[in-house]
Amino acid sequence: MYKLGLIGRSVEHSKSPEIHHKLLAENGLEGEYHLFSIDESMIAETLEYFKTNEYTGFNVTVPYKETIIPYLDALETSAEVMQSVNTVKIVDGQLIGYNTDGLGYIESLKQNYPDWFNNRQEKTVLVLGAGGAAKGITHQLVNHQLGRIFIANRTQSKALELASIFPEVETIQWSEVTHALTQVDLAINTTTVGMAPNDHQSIISLKGLKSNPIVSDIVYQPTWTKLLIEAHEEGCPLLFGESMLYYQAVKAFEIWTMKE
Ligand code: ATR
Repeated sequence: MYKLGLIGRSVEHSKSPEIHHKLLAENGLEGEYHLFSIDESMIAETLEYFKTNEYTGFNVTVPYKETIIPYLDALETSAEVMQSVNTVKIVDGQLIGYNTDGLGYIESLKQNYPDWFNNRQEKTVLVLGAGGAAKGITHQLVNHQLGRIFIANRTQSKALELASIFPEVETIQWSEVTHALTQVDLAINTTTVGMAPNDHQSIISLKGLKSNPIVSDIVYQPTWTKLLIEAHEEGCPLLFGESMLYYQAVKAFEIWTMKE
């Protein structure tokens, strides 16, 4: 019997229970996945509740991905690098923190474009944004040894900071993004720009784009962000945020159940 859950500030509308109940059923496992909308002052008692009620693990979402770290007993590498945790496994009363966002992103790319990694050394990627999600995705892009990885962020100093963590990464100026787009194989919006209710916004305009990179958005509400609508109109292949959401959940499920 797997007892699983999600903690965050307001998680009432989360899609995670649906995803994990489906994964449990598909794998012939018994279990339940509960939602915990909590204030920061309730973190310690919620973790005690998980331990005494023999939870297998839980997910962590906004705004506790960093706040949770001091409460944990150990961090796996990607959580350590990112200083951000979205998955916790409870082993013999010890809380182990993981971050599956980056791996979930790579898996969504592999599942949607199976041949894409074949000649990975020839691939060029443009990461837009330099926040927490950018760090997780960039970490895994670096691990997967792609040809070149560029980062552009509205505030250049944050892009430089990210590049200092990953020596393989090159930064470009925000003003060069439109030109850079014509030379990359994959462009990823790692920011929340375009998320409802601000779905009239887009991180960049793709109107008149003279190339056809895969355009990828981690925003999944709405499914069709303004960025993806424009990319589609310009004839670019797409990678939807919903796919990353699904595969970061799959990676968490694998950690808890040790099933593939
Ligand atoms: P996180 O990824 O840490 O959760 P976020 O709020 O989702 O945080 O996204 C932060 C990223 O979105 C930053 O890279 C931010 O750029 P700045 O460092 O310049 O603030 C980027 N961002 C937010 N709004 C933006 C906008 N209107 N245009 C361009 N980039 C924006």
